[in-house]
Amino acid sequence: MTRFTINGNPVAFDLPPETPLLWALRDAMNLTGTKFGCGAGLCGACTVHIDGQAQRSCQVNIGDIEGTFVTTIEGLSRDGSHPVQQAWIAEQVPQCGYCQPGMIMAAAAFLKDTPKPTEDDIKAGITNLCRCGTYPRIKKAILRAAG
Ligand code: FES
Repeated sequence: MTRFTINGNPVAFDLPPETPLLWALRDAMNLTGTKFGCGAGLCGACTVHIDGQAQRSCQVNIGDIEGTFVTTIEGLSRDGSHPVQQAWIAEQVPQCGYCQPGMIMAAAAFLKDTPKPTEDDIKAGITNLCRCGTYPRIKKAILRAAG
């Protein structure tokens, strides 16, 4: 049994310890805001926070995060009021939208560490991929959220 906390709720998984966190979230918890893109740690569509740090959940085995606090896009705010979510709405960032939950989670963690980023900081700090190429709006939204 693997125990940790998801969006403030304690959970216990009777799954093999090598189960990727992404599958525990999506298949066992029905938290489908966290997306499967590449499954190889490259795209960031599966980004969640583990103890406040952005992590690619396809690359994290549940057996390795016993006792941690996981936050998914569903737990970032209950009503979309997180400053990054508000900035995403104001800048109308998404095109297809598939990568955007992971992008928002990456941006939220990034801004905690880098509250006043430059454009170069954003370029270096946000490595998630968007096949629609919404990068200019992502950059504007991050700068807006930074205030
Ligand atoms: Fe995890 Fe692409 S699905 S990084």
